[in-house]
Amino acid sequence: MRRILITAALPYANGPQHFGHLAGAYLPGDCYARFERLRGNDVLYICGSDEHGVAITLSADLAKRSPKEHVDLFHAINKDFFEKLNISFDHFSRTTWPGHIATTQSIFHALKENGYIIAKTENHLYSETEKRFLADRYVVGTCPKCGFEEARGDECQRCAASYESTDLKNPRSKLTGSPLSVRPSEHLYLRFDLFKDRLKEWIEKKNWKENVVRFAMSYINDLKMRAITRDSDWGIPVPDMPGKVFYVWFDAPIGYISATQDWAQKIGKPDRWKEYWLSPDTELVQFLGKDNIPFHAVFFPAMLMGQNLPYKLPDQLPANEFFMLEGRQFSKSDGWTIDMDDFFSKYTPDLARYTIAANAPETADAEFSWKDFQMRCNAELLGKFGNFVHRVLVFAKQHCAGTVPPKHELNERDRQFLEDIRKLICEAEAAFVDFHLRKATQILMELAQLGNVYFEHRKPWKLAKNPETGKELETTLNCCIQCIKALALISFPIVPDAAQKIWNQLGYHSAIDQWAKIRDTDVPTNQKLPEPYVLFRKVEDEEITAQIEKLGKSKALHKEVVVKTEFPVADPIIEPLKTSIDFDLFQKMDLRIAQVLEATKVPKSKKLLKLLVDLGFEKRTVVSGIAQHFEPEQLIGKKVILVANLAPATIMGIESRGMVLASHSGALLELPQIQGLPAGSVVS
Ligand code: MF3
Ligand code: ZN
Repeated sequence: MRRILITAALPYANGPQHFGHLAGAYLPGDCYARFERLRGNDVLYICGSDEHGVAITLSADLAKRSPKEHVDLFHAINKDFFEKLNISFDHFSRTTWPGHIATTQSIFHALKENGYIIAKTENHLYSETEKRFLADRYVVGTCPKCGFEEARGDECQRCAASYESTDLKNPRSKLTGSPLSVRPSEHLYLRFDLFKDRLKEWIEKKNWKENVVRFAMSYINDLKMRAITRDSDWGIPVPDMPGKVFYVWFDAPIGYISATQDWAQKIGKPDRWKEYWLSPDTELVQFLGKDNIPFHAVFFPAMLMGQNLPYKLPDQLPANEFFMLEGRQFSKSDGWTIDMDDFFSKYTPDLARYTIAANAPETADAEFSWKDFQMRCNAELLGKFGNFVHRVLVFAKQHCAGTVPPKHELNERDRQFLEDIRKLICEAEAAFVDFHLRKATQILMELAQLGNVYFEHRKPWKLAKNPETGKELETTLNCCIQCIKALALISFPIVPDAAQKIWNQLGYHSAIDQWAKIRDTDVPTNQKLPEPYVLFRKVEDEEITAQIEKLGKSKALHKEVVVKTEFPVADPIIEPLKTSIDFDLFQKMDLRIAQVLEATKVPKSKKLLKLLVDLGFEKRTVVSGIAQHFEPEQLIGKKVILVANLAPATIMGIESRGMVLASHSGALLELPQIQGLPAGSVVS
């Protein structure tokens, strides 16, 4: 028996969770937990609310609640959401439970003892108007090198000089434009840089998804010490530093450990958390969305490497892409969401679980759409899966005196059918092991379809008419019943309610509990079959139309506070719009498609790449600050957008003629790209 500790990213208690979150972490985690429990392993599935951080204090302020009232509210709402969806956490804790303080502080003390924490008093830019220190990203000013007046806080976008924000002349708040002054402030820094080699060595051995490893590596290469303290009164207090709390991304992942301790106390065995966290033969599997990768693959592991106790580091890190609603991100403030009370008043959790699993964002962003939901419910769950189960059981009930008929001599077709069933069970097993939920749902439907085709082929309704084919009839139905058993088994991790009901309709009174045993044992002959009933209802067109019409209609009062998950981010920022420009000015800008022909690193620069691009009518050299996001080879052949009439500038001794457009958010960067149009095409 394996010991498997499963976690799903602790959701912020800052708003209601939605299907987007569910698809990214909680449902894949739940299917995996259910599958491994079914295989007889010792599974502990742990989660809880992430309740600190500035996003919470800001949202609480907006909603005129205290932070405590705010997190109490959303902790309860989210806990209920997960329960309604049958997410089988063994424990759903919260980072405001008292035990979390001691655990966070003890992790901190060990880091300090071991020389990984330093205190620095530094000058920071302070806004009198906003009453707070501003991080680089919130600051603009005049570049100390070239005099550009709108230079960013850490680097000049005109001359590419990098500097400290306190070197800027005339520093101003990016948000309010208010002037900033220099003030000293003491903060604690965690020396992440000291873990670089150990992290590299550790991660290199992992067989994780390629994008997870690549993303993590790019962080590791650039590891710096990071401030782990904040000036605030909402959070875990920093020992001996009144007025300071730990940065939320320091305490939140420690929440996985303290939540396990909370669970252990609640079951009356307070030491049992150690079996999971401190023993090397535990497998730690952490489910998360892709925006959380650096914290789970780099920062939290570093924190644990700096401890004196042998904490488990993640063995698997199934990270998912984003999951949207009808082509757009879920957004409560725009009304682009699904009302959960309404949803659960009409649909069972299995319908949501199945649809989301079938569209799981495993390798690319994916979405929930109402039309697809209807198709999954009607064509797949009801049409293929439910119908097969129902027609077989009704038939058996009528023609076999309400019991499971015996199997007689098998013909080639029967034998093939039974073999195919077995093969699909094994494929489903492999899909669950590899966290391939989409694949698992496909196999489930394949198995249902296999049953339908066999049933049609054997035509039991004909066999029933002829007394001489009585044995064939019994054999056919017996084989179909074995197929139903297999369906109950492999569907259980995804649609647990339906699976359990099917199991009971086969005459079992137990819970579906042992994968291998159920797989290898036939439903016994003569087992009494209860009255069969229909499992799924049809979802009508009108319901779907009504749902689609609701989208975007009921807008919320407040904008959600969105926090970028860079480590560490001082405060959330919604970039203010620049002042408006007239159309003529915009027209003067010449944007063109440029195809990258060559890309090389600029020597002695971490950020810059030298690109040779083709504009169709000429080739040019441009210098672009994207070296930390791409390997040069990755860019070759790409068609990007170039500001083609930007005055040339000399950057690190290279004349750059134009600028490649890129979009960034925190540490993430993406290039807008064109697929089909030729180089030189105008973008307007
Ligand atoms: N609350 C974070 C989010 O929703 C996730 C925290 S994960 C943990 O993005 F590791 F910090 F717990
Ligand atoms: Zn400059």
